[in-house]
Amino acid sequence: MKNKYLITSALPYVNNIPHIGNFVGSVLPADVYARFMRARHGAEKVLFVCGADAHGSPVVISAKKEGIPVEELANKYHSLHAKVFQEFEISFDGGYGTTHSELQTKLVHELFSALDRNGFVEEKTTMQPYSVDDDMFLADRQIEGTCPKCGYEKARGDQCDKCSELLDPTDLIKPYVADTGGKNIEMRETKNLFYRMDLVKDDVKKWVMDTAEKNKWSASAFNATKKYLAEDVPNPSITRDLPWGIPVNKPGYENKVFYVWFDAPWGYVSISQAAKPGRAEADGEGGWADWWHGGDDCHYTQFMGKDNIKFHALFFPGQEIAWADGNWKKVDLLKGLNFLNFEGAKISKSTGNGIFLDQAILDAPADAWRYALMASAPETDDTDFTIRRFADIVNKDLNGMLGNFVSRVCKLCEKNFGNNVPAFKKGFETPTRKMDGHLSELTAALDACEFRKAVERLRSMWAVANEYMTEQAPWTLVKDGDMDAAGAVLNECFQMIDFFARVSAPFIPGAAAKMRDIFGNSRDLSWPVKYEWRIQDGKPFVVPENLFERIDEDKIAEMTAKYVKK
Ligand code: MF3
Ligand code: ZN
Repeated sequence: MKNKYLITSALPYVNNIPHIGNFVGSVLPADVYARFMRARHGAEKVLFVCGADAHGSPVVISAKKEGIPVEELANKYHSLHAKVFQEFEISFDGGYGTTHSELQTKLVHELFSALDRNGFVEEKTTMQPYSVDDDMFLADRQIEGTCPKCGYEKARGDQCDKCSELLDPTDLIKPYVADTGGKNIEMRETKNLFYRMDLVKDDVKKWVMDTAEKNKWSASAFNATKKYLAEDVPNPSITRDLPWGIPVNKPGYENKVFYVWFDAPWGYVSISQAAKPGRAEADGEGGWADWWHGGDDCHYTQFMGKDNIKFHALFFPGQEIAWADGNWKKVDLLKGLNFLNFEGAKISKSTGNGIFLDQAILDAPADAWRYALMASAPETDDTDFTIRRFADIVNKDLNGMLGNFVSRVCKLCEKNFGNNVPAFKKGFETPTRKMDGHLSELTAALDACEFRKAVERLRSMWAVANEYMTEQAPWTLVKDGDMDAAGAVLNECFQMIDFFARVSAPFIPGAAAKMRDIFGNSRDLSWPVKYEWRIQDGKPFVVPENLFERIDEDKIAEMTAKYVKK
């Protein structure tokens, strides 16, 4: 049995508001899993961290576009991310962090020194495009020009968006500065540092094969990793000529910063340091080091979109291995998700297709999105999400199955028995066996981070409750005057409501809290090992407000007009 659980979600770039595809691709499943693990093993054993990925050229480019200093842009989007994630009830430990911090700089400097000391860094002189007018070197994406392969005139320095050819800035015909269109570009000599990935590749390979198999990585994550391992990747350069990032702690590199992927994954560590200060050795139990230096005592799960797999399965562990005496915890289960499309097309800021989180929360409450997105999680393949699908899931599952059940039980009982849970009489049928079967499958699915399966089990439990109501028909029992029988049935239904509050909480924490509060106290929502009867005969209860609202045709039309491009 592990004693600690470390959970991380890929750190979103701080230049944009996340959209529903980003959300279901890492932060949301990580939160569902973190809530489940806290309920199951105790909150003190779980460390769930995430924050903004503050560096890199995308952030610099967005600041240029918005015409504000980079730091201001980073702060602005950091606050916006934190706000939307709070609105969606994401339960980060220590709040929403950032890689733009002193802890991160200190850690990355230690990392670099260790790699350099251990012989994993080499210096090379290369030719890089330089904008004479702007007096700066241009990052791969800051330079555009004509693609030598297909003739597309707006190919980026690293790739042509038209024909997908991978490019080097020097390949571009008629290059220009992407932001300004300036053509005064020269190739100038510059020194950069490279990470000797070749020296750790065999160790990484051994580690991946062992870890992926043992921890049952999904076929798609494992296959992607094996594909990258088979490729002959050149050693990556880890320094950039950018005005924004972590300064390079080596003489001669004063004007450069580390490449964003060199520092970004270490944000998991520095954000943990901020969330749980104190090293275990010095300050007793509970500090960040319990997780990050926890060895086999700790289980580490990472969540990310599939485009991030290479960095998490190879690059980051490679750094951890190269920093040999660092004794860093490496990932056990890597959960890579595919992409969510919207209304048949790729979600993208530039085409305007998709729903961004600051808008989504205005249309429906967090629970509705959380559940509908997890029910559509792109686990095995890219998945299309539509407004119609969203409405169907909310209306059928949440409102139709769970919401109606809870409200019928409470109202029927209040009307005929008042606001105390009627007594259970022995000898009545209970759905225990069915519930226990679904519970063990739900628990196993969540343990394995198989979320669609988990949602199906949850739905099956709600179906059991509705079938029970229909079969036992307590309203008929009332009409026939068999109050003992009607009371026993309703008592059973209240037990189910209490049970649902616990097992639904990772997905729909808002509704779970309402179900819990029906019984007027803050009962614990720990994860059940079996279906049990916790609600005593005579327990007072209140009829809750509706758990969910239907998404009606008017709302569907409104959302369609707002989000679906004609
Ligand atoms: N910022 C990257 C993206 O949005 C993800 C970085 S994950 C990290 O694709 F761990 F490296 F930070
Ligand atoms: Zn091309």
